[in-house]
Amino acid sequence: MDILFKNISLLVTASAIREPLRGADLSTLLSLRDAWLLVEDGIIADYGLMSELELKLPQLPREIVDATGKIVLPAWCDSHTHLVFAGSREHEFVDKIRGLSYAEIAAKGGGILHSARKLADTPEEVLFSQAWERLQAVAKLGTGSIEIKSGYGLSVEAELKMLRVIKKLKERSSLQIKATFLGAHAFPLAYKEDHAAYIRSLTDEMLPVIAADGLADYIDVFCEQGFFSPGEMETVCRAGQQYGLPAKLHIHQLSSNGGLQKAIELGALSVDHLETMTEQDIRDLAGASTIGTLLPTAAFFLRMPYQPARALIDSGCAIALASDYNPGSSPSGNMNFVVALSCIQMKMLPAEAIQAATINGAFAMGVEKTSGSIAVGKRADLILTTPVPSLEYLPYAFGTNCIERVMIRGEWV
Ligand code: NIG
Ligand code: FE
Repeated sequence: MDILFKNISLLVTASAIREPLRGADLSTLLSLRDAWLLVEDGIIADYGLMSELELKLPQLPREIVDATGKIVLPAWCDSHTHLVFAGSREHEFVDKIRGLSYAEIAAKGGGILHSARKLADTPEEVLFSQAWERLQAVAKLGTGSIEIKSGYGLSVEAELKMLRVIKKLKERSSLQIKATFLGAHAFPLAYKEDHAAYIRSLTDEMLPVIAADGLADYIDVFCEQGFFSPGEMETVCRAGQQYGLPAKLHIHQLSSNGGLQKAIELGALSVDHLETMTEQDIRDLAGASTIGTLLPTAAFFLRMPYQPARALIDSGCAIALASDYNPGSSPSGNMNFVVALSCIQMKMLPAEAIQAATINGAFAMGVEKTSGSIAVGKRADLILTTPVPSLEYLPYAFGTNCIERVMIRGEWV
């Protein structure tokens, strides 16, 4: 079915982008005023200025959307989430208000291990339907592409259950979904004193089945004190590489422990979190092809210092923004809030935040050829705003729903 958007007050476009945007390029956002956009069979077929519409499109399609006063921009590419989980953890939210830290809760067997116990007891169909509801909710908030991790299984059986749920989401949803194996999210209590044995179960038991059944696109490790050391991360990533899984890693969330340098050495596609970055860490990332994915809602929710977005951008690092949607550190997958928070608290310019949450996010999850920008031939994953005065208004009016409709692969959500 063909759909024409006409009288678009601002159409966010892009020229051919071959690499993640860095430095000043991140704030250079191309757009057309008073524009039209044609969608054919779920794909962006053409776009241009209203003054040239008659010439370019003598025959108009039947479905026409009048976008007077409204903006059309690419749907968000949320390149880091833990969208599949069982239940919720608001009791820990209250514990944190009372003064416990994230690390203290984890050390008591709460946190990730709590979610793992719940997930083990939840049937696969229930897990799927909870995740499906969340996926519909974030699609309505403008997310068109999403990466989803395992990591609340922590046993062969439960990790495979999570990955099968993600596979089913991929099959049934029109969103672009990538799956990441995060068996190395935490050490189960039984392996607290024998890390090597759990790592063997990841590399020798889980990975072969995951590869044979095509259950993952990427591999991830939570590299942190009390979780996986840089050396343990290397073992897991090297095994993943044997099965063709590039790494997207949890790095420097709670401490700068050398994980960043190890991740770069491993050729990671992305290093995610980065709340605790030294000046040397920033220089090292700037010299690498690895993308730094900032998760400001996790810092917000855990009351931690925000990621040093300004220093990262100004030093030439390629950065993306993602929601980290998970029950423990970011129980929200609202990318509109991620973008607003990035501008308000990390001093990113609106154009930088929007591009970090679209095209750079697409690079950070390997979907840049089909998604992340409004370009002819890409998927029609689009956000149509309500009437707004400018693009900058979107993060400025934080918490206000400025989305009128969302289109995923040419269909209205
Ligand atoms: O990205 N830091 C590790 N993993 C998640 C939190 C997981 C949880 O608390 O359930 C994160 O913040
Ligand atoms: Fe995470």
